[in-house]
Amino acid sequence: MLPAAEIKQNVADYATQLIQPGMTVGIGTGTTATFFIKALALRVKQGLRCVCVPTSTEVKLLAEKLGLTLTTLNDVSKIDIDIDGADEIDPQLCLIKGGGGALLQEKMVAAASKQFIVIADSSKMVKQLGSFALPVEVIPFGWKQVQQHITSLFNISVILRSKNDSVFVTDHGHYILDASFGHINHPDQLCKELNNIPGVVENGLFIEMANSVIIGFDDGRIKEIKK
Ligand code: 5RP
Repeated sequence: MLPAAEIKQNVADYATQLIQPGMTVGIGTGTTATFFIKALALRVKQGLRCVCVPTSTEVKLLAEKLGLTLTTLNDVSKIDIDIDGADEIDPQLCLIKGGGGALLQEKMVAAASKQFIVIADSSKMVKQLGSFALPVEVIPFGWKQVQQHITSLFNISVILRSKNDSVFVTDHGHYILDASFGHINHPDQLCKELNNIPGVVENGLFIEMANSVIIGFDDGRIKEIKK
């Protein structure tokens, strides 16, 4: 049985093989995406040419340190391929993302990509989304109103995310509300409902966005599931 780090390394290595010379590559946030970024940096050292669009400040700093060439979303017309992790993946390849708090940029980068490929270990595959609390990014002004709104609309617990005893603040100065749905029956509808609430910037449901997911198992197997 492989340890989690080795499974993440395996899917990261698999994903780097999808990167062709000259591509513009979206680079995701999180522990699995970090394995990919490091694996990509190795290929770049061996001569692969590519330009990367980071999905968070954390990833931007890491990629710079590793010597990857970076660009921004404003400076590209389209991204060739985006590689990112996920918190949950359902059989239709709908996702919950945002465990690392980078969902806004991650969604924008995924939406601008010709191919959006998710890398994850098999524990992220679920029959139905919702066990993982859904991150909802909100503006700090009046965030309690939004929390109450979501709580009363869905009768669920909604918690303001904190980190090291302080409120967690995203790269864009927003807060995150983690909404414990338990199970989500209609992710598409919920995604729209949440984004319609005044004060909500974006939520962590990624519907009909992933082209494929690369799943790593603890026996060393890797399975690519295409949409
Ligand atoms: C960050 C994300 C991550 O991709 C997600 O949380 C998965 O992270 P990890 O690979 O560490 O399990 O959405 O906002």
